[in-house]
Amino acid sequence: MDYNNIIFSMEEGIATITFNRPKALNAMNSETMSELKDAVTLCRDNDDIRVMILTGSGDKAFVAGADIAQMQDLEPREALAFMELGHETLRLLETASKPSIAAVNGFALGGGTEISMACDMRFASEKARFGQPEILIGLIPGWGGTQRLPRLIGMGRAKELVMSGEQIDAQRAYEIGLVNRIYPPETLLEETMKFARKLSGLPPFQLKMAKHSINFGYDLPLDNAGRLEVECCAQCFSTQDQKEGMKAFLEKRKPGYKGR
Ligand code: CAA
Repeated sequence: MDYNNIIFSMEEGIATITFNRPKALNAMNSETMSELKDAVTLCRDNDDIRVMILTGSGDKAFVAGADIAQMQDLEPREALAFMELGHETLRLLETASKPSIAAVNGFALGGGTEISMACDMRFASEKARFGQPEILIGLIPGWGGTQRLPRLIGMGRAKELVMSGEQIDAQRAYEIGLVNRIYPPETLLEETMKFARKLSGLPPFQLKMAKHSINFGYDLPLDNAGRLEVECCAQCFSTQDQKEGMKAFLEKRKPGYKGR
């Protein structure tokens, strides 16, 4: 697929997906969402890609939300399809077998906050701003904001953001657990790459199992979730990387993981 609205690049096993509609502050229309879905599918299916980074072009926005110009005249049936496309894409991203990091370089509003929440981690520039302002334009979040936000920051805080439409800065987002790390704008991408490189050197199957256990255990009763963890942990013992990791520890040397 040719991309018109995202830039896809790959370096040292790290794929970077850059939202690139600077004139609309990288707002997501259906074409951009379809491109994201294609890029995430490509990352999922390519074993050479170990980590995904999502960011926005320019220095102003990560993603300023779903494209309001495209949405304004939608019929309910068309809106349903647009919201479903977003949900499918973000679920694909969230459940992909490799880690994803949102490098939030500016406004992450509405769909922008929602895309970042489907990533495993959020690293923010000091200039980043988050929020679910849909209510201010006669809408509510449609790409997971009412579901992922309370899971990340708690019900009360999520309701405050969703029902008021207020924006928060990176510091506040960090305080409430929406953001993992904050960096100066000029070092955000470099620091995110550094962290991604660290992850890309770790055993991929184990990363997959860790993510799988957290993602699919989270909403299960504790007994079932614990069972899922037991199965995922036990499966790690079928890999050479587990043998190598433990052997290297006992031999007091760095492990040489092979991804097998
Ligand atoms: N959709 C379409 N265009 C957008 C956009 C969006 N979400 N956000 C910004 N733009 C466009 C503006 O219309 C403007 O275009 P023109 O230059 O052609 O007029 C351009 O980007 C620059 O924006 P501003 O002039 O508004 O820039 P600013 O610095 O004054 O404000 C902002 C920045 C606070 C992010 C403001 O643009 C804004 O509030 N944007 C909308 C945010 C929003 O409501 N997002 C939620 C969308 S709904 C959603 O996401 C639903 C869902 O859950 C799926």
